[in-house]
Amino acid sequence: MSFLKNIFKIRNWKKSDIDYNKLPAHIAIIMDGNGRWAKKRALPRSVGHREGAKTLKEITTFCGEIGIKYLTVYAFSTENWKRPKSEVDALMNLLLDYLKNAETHIGGKSVRIQVIGDVSVFDDKIKKEIDRVTKLTSKNTGLILNIALNYGSRAEIVHAAKKIAKEVSEGKLKVDDIDEKVLNDGLYTAMIPDPDLLIRPGGEKRLSNFLLWQSAYTEFWYTDVLWPDFKKEHILDAIFEYQKRNRRFGGI
Ligand code: FPP
Repeated sequence: MSFLKNIFKIRNWKKSDIDYNKLPAHIAIIMDGNGRWAKKRALPRSVGHREGAKTLKEITTFCGEIGIKYLTVYAFSTENWKRPKSEVDALMNLLLDYLKNAETHIGGKSVRIQVIGDVSVFDDKIKKEIDRVTKLTSKNTGLILNIALNYGSRAEIVHAAKKIAKEVSEGKLKVDDIDEKVLNDGLYTAMIPDPDLLIRPGGEKRLSNFLLWQSAYTEFWYTDVLWPDFKKEHILDAIFEYQKRNRRFGGI
């Protein structure tokens, strides 16, 4: 992977420092710090989000290039509606723009885009684009990018619980047959393996209602770097650290 040479130079790493046979299959990212990035430059928060969208495209391409199979990103939470209308509108416009131009940033047609969350609340233009892009990329065989939109983990678990309760009340499922798999199958992430590595830029050290169920055994990696400043080398920093950890999944 000759394109990695420069990053290895920046970090003073040897080729053997990253083991490409032991990459995390699934990386999840809380894309935090856009607002602070803009504030530092006396710019509107929306500019920070725009830069954050550029970072998302670069990191998606890079993850695909190095062989990550799944990337799940927190783009809009169920709590983000509490932000000023102007900021919500700016985020919706960015999302629409991102989806409309998906063809230009799906990594040589290899990236498959999927959405997790309750998208029923979005306006028709966005819903139409989500539909178009998920269908357009559905046969792509490279990285699977899951974009969390109007996503909240607690809401997701409630949604799964209601689905199960309905099946029980209709006699399609017995209470005794409810297990972790049944609950997992009711989540938006049912078809996606649990994340191996969760990255949070922006300095905060919390989950913020992201993938609560799915991250039971996920390795966390934090950095103070703000999302718009997040670069390929930071992904490799996280993978480097991840590969030094001893994952025991409750065993010894
Ligand atoms: C959190 O940073 C970020 C968000 C609420 C939005 C994330 C959106 C993007 C990265 C770009 C748009 C995404 C797509 C798919 C087009 P913050 O605003 O809370 O930052 P702060 O903590 O510094 O205020």
